[in-house]
Amino acid sequence: MPAGGFVPREGKGYPGNLTPFVTITCIVAAMGGLIFGYDIGISGGVTSMAPFLKKFFPSVYRKEVEDTSTNQYCKFDSQTLTMFTSSLYLAALLASIAASTVTQLFGRKLSMLLGGVLFCAGAILNAFARDVVMLIVGRILLGFGVGFANQSVPLYLSEMAPYKYRGALNLGFQLSISTGILVANVLNYFFAKVGDWGWRLSLGGAVVPALIITVGSLLLPDTPNSLIERGRHDEAVAKLKRIRGIDDVDAEFNDLVAASEESRKMENPWGYLLRRKYRPHLTMAIAIPIFQQLTGINAIMFYAPVLFRTIGFGDDASLMSAVITGCVNVAATLVSIYGVDRWGRRFLFLEGGIQMLVCQVIVAVCIGVKFGVKGDPGDLPKWYAIVVVLFICIYVTAFAWSWGPLGWLVPSEIFPLEIRSAAQSVNVSVNMIFTFAVAQVFLTMLCHLKFGLFLFFAFFVIVMSIFVYFLLPETKGVPIEEMKIAWKNHPYWGSFILDDELPAGAGVEHDTTG
Ligand code: BGC
Repeated sequence: MPAGGFVPREGKGYPGNLTPFVTITCIVAAMGGLIFGYDIGISGGVTSMAPFLKKFFPSVYRKEVEDTSTNQYCKFDSQTLTMFTSSLYLAALLASIAASTVTQLFGRKLSMLLGGVLFCAGAILNAFARDVVMLIVGRILLGFGVGFANQSVPLYLSEMAPYKYRGALNLGFQLSISTGILVANVLNYFFAKVGDWGWRLSLGGAVVPALIITVGSLLLPDTPNSLIERGRHDEAVAKLKRIRGIDDVDAEFNDLVAASEESRKMENPWGYLLRRKYRPHLTMAIAIPIFQQLTGINAIMFYAPVLFRTIGFGDDASLMSAVITGCVNVAATLVSIYGVDRWGRRFLFLEGGIQMLVCQVIVAVCIGVKFGVKGDPGDLPKWYAIVVVLFICIYVTAFAWSWGPLGWLVPSEIFPLEIRSAAQSVNVSVNMIFTFAVAQVFLTMLCHLKFGLFLFFAFFVIVMSIFVYFLLPETKGVPIEEMKIAWKNHPYWGSFILDDELPAGAGVEHDTTG
């Protein structure tokens, strides 16, 4: 594999164990992903519940039930409805920028706490919503919560984890996202049956994950990196010993201090990001989240029930199918937790890309053959529906072990400390802008591009796989504060990193076997 192989130089790996303390800490912190996941899963189901639509979006409801002539692809095309889903992401974008400063100056924990509290407030407002305004304001608060949590949790995990297990521990975040989505899908399925107010339970249920992250953040320790960044060296040494389960933490501690000193020289992290030496990092902070969203995953996650209804499933079957894709999403995330530190990030990215591509083409053909370009309404034969759902599931599997988790892991591990917080905000903001864009235009695109929508995303999967193949170095097994060596080894990015910036004694080795 060109451009990919990197072997950390001999003897530099820090000693330390996967202690129960660090494992439990990371599990608790990873639960920060639940709020994001719960929200992704809940909105799609709620917007397909008739009482909810009748109360807040009556025109969409009327169009759906009364207008039998509307073509299948355009039934749900409503700007207000998509605004409801996507308002959250704009709020999250703004919050993640504010979170950059909070995370850097006051530590990762405070950002997590704010994330939990704001999300909780949004959930309560939504559960008692009487009009669209309350609904949207509630969603904006939820968005603020997600922005703070997504900015801080991945960084927290990558800094806490011993480098050899960083991939697996960080992926706990994605596992929580997918678990949140699944729980939300299951709840929607049941709450849809309780009566006209089931949607209130669905939206209010968000209080539970919000409380988990709120309480969790109060109990969690600070990361050593963040303590050092704030000048609390003694505490940092003690914490490092506790986390790694050994007394000999000098090597790691010294590197963290060196990284922090570098970071102190900088006055404005945002301006810093534009320097030439950070070009590889900035490129990844922008490209990875864009590509993650252009896989089209959220077309499925937000709108699975709507999508399944579009292709002819009944109400119940639609929600149930969303539960099935939710289960597949969780199961496949577990596979990547197992494999990410064994097989590496590049392998998962590339394998996942090919698998997604094949499925998208098959789904496009299936839907195209059935509905043609006009979107003629009609029932889907059962076997046909099963084939479509099957390939959607295989596609979700691929995402869940590639771009899903790695879209959060890789950015959180490649930035040097001095720009880490700011660059992570860029990552979250870009992710949110593109999540917003997909949420906002998906229903309109389905209406106009029809089955071609799946081919649209397939095209980007090809582009992103080529990008990874040529431009992303392997980061498996590289200590986080030594990542410069991985860039230096890269045939293209190498010239951006100056030799005098490498950690003392850094060797440059290629793993020719990839
Ligand atoms: C993405 C979300 C997506 C989720 C699906 C996450 O990594 O950021 O946009 O909905 O995965 O599991």
